[in-house]
Amino acid sequence: MDISVLGTGAVGRAVAGRLDDLGHHVTMATRDPEATSGREDHAGWAAAHPGVRLVAFADAGADADLVVNALGGDVAEGVLAEVGEGLAGRVLLDISNPLDHSQGFPPRLFVKDDDSLAERIQRAHAEARVVKALNTMNSAVMVDPARLGEETTVFVSGDDQHAKATVVGLLRELGHTDVIDLGGLETARGAEMFLPLWVRTALALGGSDFNIKVVRGPSLLDA
Ligand SMILES: NC(=O)c1ccc[n+]([C@@H]2O[C@H](COP(=O)([O-])OP(=O)(O)OC[C@H]3O[C@@H](n4cnc5c(N)ncnc54)[C@H](OP(=O)(O)O)[C@@H]3O)[C@@H](O)[C@H]2O)c1
Repeated sequence: MDISVLGTGAVGRAVAGRLDDLGHHVTMATRDPEATSGREDHAGWAAAHPGVRLVAFADAGADADLVVNALGGDVAEGVLAEVGEGLAGRVLLDISNPLDHSQGFPPRLFVKDDDSLAERIQRAHAEARVVKALNTMNSAVMVDPARLGEETTVFVSGDDQHAKATVVGLLRELGHTDVIDLGGLETARGAEMFLPLWVRTALALGGSDFNIKVVRGPSLLDA
């Protein structure tokens, strides 16, 4: 697939790098490609992934089958507005979380309960096909769930069945074997509202190398 990854942070690098390794044609987008190329953290990553082209946000998405939102939640809506037309018709895999760090720790959610960041993005880009997934685990686990040594769970939410099937296929390529389809995009609210518990769990464990595992009782073994 032609995949455009928006974001050069831990998530952007992990996802773009793994998809490149899997043989997808990947571009990565950033504010200022020249400045990002000169960044020490990016240079090492780029040397290992010479086939991944770095473009400006405004030039992202155009030829992509799938766009990945790996942007800070607080800046995602602004950046996606910049990408604009590049999102029309695309599957948009939204990994971002609506975290507001402005009041210190723990971060607050700037949208919750009766709305979600995923739904706000979908409303702003009616032509995009938004699917929420992978936001409930750290970037290393996203792209290599087997590192945890046992099967864990990833959730998907989205209104477009074909888009969701595309994302589920990609999740399986990344190694995710327990994928729970929560339903329409509205269900992304729950996945995003898991973050306060995720943050506290990471603090309690002293690290983020963990994931949720949904264990089915006997009456749910086929679910
Ligand atoms: N880190 C994790 O393990 C993890 C796990 C689950 C979910 N998430 C979610 O995934 C998303 C990405 O997380 P991350 O840790 O990789 O990245 P991040 O550091 O939160 O964001 C990186 C991206 O945001 C862009 N950005 C930052 N400030 C900006 C601004 N003022 N205007 C425009 N763009 C701006 C950066 O652009 P430049 O490229 O130009 O620098 C960069 O591409 C977040 O929403 C996070 O909550 C993260």
